[in-house]
Amino acid sequence: MKVKNPIILPLDVDSEQKALDLALSLKDGVGVFKVGMELVNSCGYRILDTLKEHGIGPDEIFLDLKYHDIPNTVAAAAAAATRLGVWMFNVHCSGGVPMMKAAKEASLKQAAELGITPPKVIGVTVLTSLDYQALQVMGFFQDPNAYPHLHFDNPEACMVQGLALNFAYLAKEAGLDGVVCSPHEITAIREACGPDFLIVTPGVRPAGADVNDQKRVKTPGEAIILGADHLVIGRPIIKADDPAAAARAITAEIEEALCVRHSGLVFDATQTLSEVERDPESSKPEEPGMLKSGVPFPNEDLRRP
Ligand code: C5P
Repeated sequence: MKVKNPIILPLDVDSEQKALDLALSLKDGVGVFKVGMELVNSCGYRILDTLKEHGIGPDEIFLDLKYHDIPNTVAAAAAAATRLGVWMFNVHCSGGVPMMKAAKEASLKQAAELGITPPKVIGVTVLTSLDYQALQVMGFFQDPNAYPHLHFDNPEACMVQGLALNFAYLAKEAGLDGVVCSPHEITAIREACGPDFLIVTPGVRPAGADVNDQKRVKTPGEAIILGADHLVIGRPIIKADDPAAAARAITAEIEEALCVRHSGLVFDATQTLSEVERDPESSKPEEPGMLKSGVPFPNEDLRRP
């Protein structure tokens, strides 16, 4: 079976020409191009037409503008994004369930009116550049008693995973197609949200690569084995001396990981690929209120209004 290359390449550059050069040089090496705020703020939405004129169609474009506003405003933005003709766009889960629902419904309505395939709408859970300390400064985790089940060696990482999982759960409740999360949360989110829920992970770095401003990272192989559908990989490809060769090397690692993933082994988000290979049977015992992956399940009582 031929599957779409899971690499999503962010066109994180500041001009139409740079974006086009990058896209054309990597057209055969990645699956989807991500158009984000740097590019749109630099050259406007005409970049979408330019890409389309060069054979990069709507099903290869992820519009990453992370909408976050009141439901009415985000719904209107979602309808407009749908009119642009893209494969996928995103909203912040922290905008709340009514906002996420409004985005998805407006997009579906607009797509039906135009007679086009509705874009996928996914929610951004916790940015991969934020870790426990950064989130605490922002006011999260004020009550450690809200996390009674922590038994990880690293309870701080577990709390961050719990927060991301809760956002993912709300995104699913709102009817979104999936989420953007760190590779550290894949196992828990897959377990809680099911096999059809799209998991898109930035924070992906080949072994030994510079992590830059990303804090919660894993390798492409690990992210695939843990169950990611798409990997957003920017600087390790864009800044490489030979971006096409870097994309090929990462694709080869992904292909190998897909073979492992389909071998039916059980993996754990806390394990690295090498640990999984050494100890494929290990997985944490299930406890009440706790997913197999060791992350506390979203507290239903806290989430209900
Ligand atoms: O260069 P790098 O691989 O770190 O690029 C990651 C891309 O994914 C950037 O375009 C960034 O905006 C985006 N992103 C992210 N973390 C999220 C959501 C999106 O890094 N949670």
